[in-house]
Amino acid sequence: MPSSRANYSIGVFIPLLAVALWVGSATTATSASDTQRAASPAPSKIEGPPPAAAPTLAVTQTGERVGDDTCLTCHEKEGQAYGKTAHARVQDPRSPAAAQGCETCHGPGKAHVDADGDKTKIKVFTALSPQQVSDTCVTCHNRQEHANWEGSAHNGRNLSCVTCHSVHAPRSEKAQLKKVSVTETCETCHRTEANKLHRSAHMPVREGKMECSSCHNPHGSNNVRLLRVGNTINETCVSCHTEKRGPFLWDHAPVRDNCTSCHDPHGSNNERLLVAKAPMLCQRCHVASRHPATIYDANQVLVSKSSRVVGRSCVNCHAQIHGSNHPSGVVFTR
Ligand code: HEC
Ligand code: HEC
Ligand code: HEC
Ligand code: HEC
Ligand code: HEC
Ligand code: HEC
Ligand code: HEC
Ligand code: HEC
Ligand code: HEC
Ligand code: HEC
Repeated sequence: MPSSRANYSIGVFIPLLAVALWVGSATTATSASDTQRAASPAPSKIEGPPPAAAPTLAVTQTGERVGDDTCLTCHEKEGQAYGKTAHARVQDPRSPAAAQGCETCHGPGKAHVDADGDKTKIKVFTALSPQQVSDTCVTCHNRQEHANWEGSAHNGRNLSCVTCHSVHAPRSEKAQLKKVSVTETCETCHRTEANKLHRSAHMPVREGKMECSSCHNPHGSNNVRLLRVGNTINETCVSCHTEKRGPFLWDHAPVRDNCTSCHDPHGSNNERLLVAKAPMLCQRCHVASRHPATIYDANQVLVSKSSRVVGRSCVNCHAQIHGSNHPSGVVFTR
């Protein structure tokens, strides 16, 4: 679409803030449009004063604006679901509705209207690169939860905000996702992890008490693997399992090092999300202890019923496996 390129990209960057001030007062006074029928005012999660430098939309169009009422005469359908979202909440001073409404994201629309809806004269998101789409959104969503989007795994692999979210046709109860839930959103690409939720041992994700996003921030993070909290895997785990935090008088090295050396956070068919059953779990590392270093075979299980094999196996005795604060807990038996 060569003509549209010419329109958008030769950047006459409109200082959004300045425009927001006068258009804001103009549109809120004149057009109490459908999109602005909104729920009660709610405090915005986008906190703080507006950024000092006026943000500019990445793909800017020159031209006059027409206001939401005009757009809606032809695009009633797009206005319907949108009218119920946070973006249409005119009482929120940081919402698009309080700025230029539809044209905050789609750019000035007069040329498009005058040309009877010529698609090349308006910003169409499906015709933009992922980066350009996201640039539109991060003019507002660039703090807190979203501060690490740039350079994150998802940004780097060309996902955009509208890979997961929809402005006009959201299906989830929260966060305007295209899918009905967080797990379904992630599942479209991360089958392996999502499938593990169906194993017998799992954290209560499939029961709805946790979500993939309880541990991961899909918008980027300071931790490895998009983990939401802390700087290491363990810091994420102990943010909920505080009693495992340590340090203990007697620390068990792998516990301090990485919980996932023994647990699979996504699910396992061994109890307690363990990556292997004891004694194998332990014998991956402890091959030379004063206990027999042999792998316990069926004969021993059935004949000797050794306490090192049955029940909780090694953990029968080494019960404080995550570390001990008992003066004689050096081998985690107490
Ligand atoms: C006079 C009627 C009319 C008005 C007013 C109007 N549009 Fe359109 N718009 C159209 C038509 C017709 C199309 C082309 C639909 C097609 O080709 O599938 C269109 C297409 C679009 C598209 C691309 C849709 C797609 O399927 O790719 C967007 C985005 C859009 N309009 C936004 C707006 C916005 C924002 C406003 C207000 C600034 C607006 N329109 C005002 C008639 C109108
Ligand atoms: C927050 C930014 C934003 C605002 C505000 C916004 N749109 Fe959109 N619009 C989008 C995005 C992103 C898409 C791509 C589809 C989606 O996300 O649902 C889109 C898609 C469209 C389409 C194409 C249909 C489609 O599903 O692809 C039309 C037409 C449209 N918008 C019209 C409007 C009108 C009319 C308004 C005002 C009532 C408006 N938009 C407000 C971002 C916005
Ligand atoms: C003009 C500023 C602005 C722009 C541009 C903008 N948003 Fe928003 N958005 C807001 C505000 C304000 C809220 C309400 C904040 C809150 O949740 O408290 C919001 C809320 C949201 C929510 C959360 C809705 C919920 O129910 O929790 C999503 C998802 C979202 N926006 C996605 C997008 C996407 C995707 C784009 C780009 C296509 C975009 N936004 C562009 C201002 C903006
Ligand atoms: C890989 C999928 C994915 C991508 C890509 C994505 N999001 Fe989200 N987003 C989510 C999920 C899942 C949630 C719900 C998180 C939760 O459980 O609270 C969410 C929540 C949000 C919220 C509401 C929560 C809040 O407090 O801010 C906003 C706003 C939002 N996203 C905006 C964006 C923007 C802007 C982009 C692009 C820069 C984006 N998202 C990219 C999946 C995604
Ligand atoms: C559209 C596909 C898509 C969706 C949807 C998606 N992801 Fe991803 N995700 C990717 C790609 C691509 C990568 C990069 C994989 C790589 O580099 O090997 C990735 C990487 C990751 C990583 C690893 C990051 C790292 O540093 O190695 C995590 C964790 C992750 N995604 C979590 C999520 C969560 C949670 C959701 C749902 C909120 C989600 N993803 C939704 C495509 C997706
Ligand atoms: C209890 C916290 C937790 C939950 C819930 C969780 N994850 Fe993870 N996830 C992790 C940890 C920790 C890692 C890093 C594991 C490692 O590197 O050994 C990880 C790694 C990943 C990776 C990267 C895998 C790789 O090999 O690079 C993806 C993708 C991922 N998770 C997706 C998901 C999805 C999708 C969901 C929801 C179905 C989910 N996670 C739920 C904690 C969690
Ligand atoms: C957001 C909070 C949260 C985070 C983060 C978290 N967990 Fe959990 N975990 C839970 C909840 C809730 C349960 C279920 C507790 C119950 O049923 O009593 C649980 C249960 C468990 C269980 C016992 C499972 C069973 O079958 O009884 C293990 C093991 C576990 N988590 C390990 C981890 C590891 C390892 C990490 C870090 C990768 C982690 N958790 C991160 C909340 C969390
Ligand atoms: C050396 C292997 C190993 C490591 C490393 C490990 N665990 Fe465990 N964990 C176990 C074993 C074995 C059990 C089962 C104990 C039992 O049956 O009494 C268990 C049980 C659990 C349980 C459920 C029962 C309970 O005690 O609450 C949670 C929660 C848990 N671990 C969290 C963690 C966290 C968090 C970390 C990282 C700080 C971690 N584990 C590191 C071996 C390990
Ligand atoms: C990922 C490797 C790894 C796994 C798995 C593992 N350990 Fe360890 N364990 C270690 C390391 C390393 C030490 C510290 C050894 C040292 O200081 O000489 C240790 C120390 C111990 C000690 C104290 C030994 C001493 O001399 O102080 C006991 C007891 C122990 N582990 C039992 C277990 C049991 C039982 C399991 C299975 C539930 C297990 N370990 C799983 C690596 C592991
Ligand atoms: C019947 C109780 C019991 C069971 C079952 C048991 N242990 Fe022990 N373990 C002990 C006691 C007691 C000590 C301290 C012995 C000593 O200091 O001589 C010990 C010491 C250890 C030590 C540290 C000393 C050394 O030998 O290096 C390791 C490592 C160890 N056990 C690993 C294991 C593993 C792995 C298993 C499962 C295959 C296991 N234990 C099963 C009671 C048990």
